Amino acid sequence: MLRVVVCVSGGGTNLQAMIDGIKEGRINNAGIVRVISNNRDAYALKRAEENHIPGVCISPKDYADREAFHKALLEAVREAEPDLIVLAGFLVVIPKEMIAEYTNKIINIHPSLIPSFCGTGYYGMKVHEGALNRGVKITGATVHFVDEGTDTGPILLQKPVEIMEGDTPEILQRRVMEEAEWILLPEAVDAIANGRVEIKDNRCRILKNRKDSGVS
Ligand code: GRF
Repeated sequence: MLRVVVCVSGGGTNLQAMIDGIKEGRINNAGIVRVISNNRDAYALKRAEENHIPGVCISPKDYADREAFHKALLEAVREAEPDLIVLAGFLVVIPKEMIAEYTNKIINIHPSLIPSFCGTGYYGMKVHEGALNRGVKITGATVHFVDEGTDTGPILLQKPVEIMEGDTPEILQRRVMEEAEWILLPEAVDAIANGRVEIKDNRCRILKNRKDSGVS
């Protein structure tokens, strides 16, 4: 079973999509073993509790400096012995040491079609404000592996979402979640859990069959 740690900061709807995916059999061979939040008020922690998943808050407010916070965060991850770390609305810059230790084992869900509306300053609602201000007709969501850059790692899955007349950032965020994020993240976890992801030359793809199945 793929041991999955989910890092959250907010409402946890992407966490819920993975919990439901496992319950409904859309995610096989994976289990969420720990939820880590930097925000003690994150509703995502309540979702973990309701689903009997161990949750822990590692808040920067509880540490003398950034370095101590990073150390505690990495320790909380290591303790869970993850095969995969999922950043699901996690608003913390991942320490370089953690990226080095879990190379190609950290994925993130970003609410746009990378490389649009991503990178420094583009998170949460700001992503949708950017798309609406630019006047793009199509946006969407991206699941990508995390490397040392911001939203720059190999892209695993993307799904387009149409922008409609009268969309506000809030309406658009909800549509991107419903029509893209909550579909892509379970799909990505299931593919990783079942050996159907190949990463080559900083690009990755999902295979029809397991890598070691001999059937390409
Ligand atoms: C979502 O828009 C997600 O794309 C972004 O953070 C927001 C909150 O997600 N990364 P959640 O409801 O906490 O999963």
